[in-house]
Amino acid sequence: MFAPERIWWKPLDKLEKRWVMVAVSWCLVLTAMMPIWLAFGHQNSPATTFRVDPADFMVKTQAFIAEYQVGEDGGKALVAAPSGGDAYIVAQRFQFSPVLQLEKGKTYRVHVSSMDVLHGLSIQPVNLNFEVVPGYEFVITLTPTESGEFQIVCNEFCGLGHHVMSGKIVVTE
Ligand code: CUA
Repeated sequence: MFAPERIWWKPLDKLEKRWVMVAVSWCLVLTAMMPIWLAFGHQNSPATTFRVDPADFMVKTQAFIAEYQVGEDGGKALVAAPSGGDAYIVAQRFQFSPVLQLEKGKTYRVHVSSMDVLHGLSIQPVNLNFEVVPGYEFVITLTPTESGEFQIVCNEFCGLGHHVMSGKIVVTE
């Protein structure tokens, strides 16, 4: 009778052993890189997150607008954030508001939250992307390096008006 060979990999060939070692070492390197990138990787988004009640966030944003509004832009409040200070953007179906006016080279703490569902805040054309989750306040540390107008588009499907959901950041010299 023919019996299947049970321990087919014994003895392990010398070359095969080496390749197994290479594969195992590479797995260990990749595993180690996960926490290392967290600490040293420059690709991490510069954002911290807090729990927030949507109504409270709206109150803070309205106070920010009332204090720093300098005009209007396309029907939305145009708000000049205090140099080096805090700025607020509310995401709700289907817009981001207000329009922020920032100064090039200054660092801002941009607070973002959603009033309703998950949205995606995508700053174009520089392609910075953040998820905007209701119930959470994201504080993005942002230093504009070039002046001009930057469109914000929503890149998480949030309903029928998703494709028209937009906002704007104006960076002055
Ligand atoms: Cu908001 Cu899609």
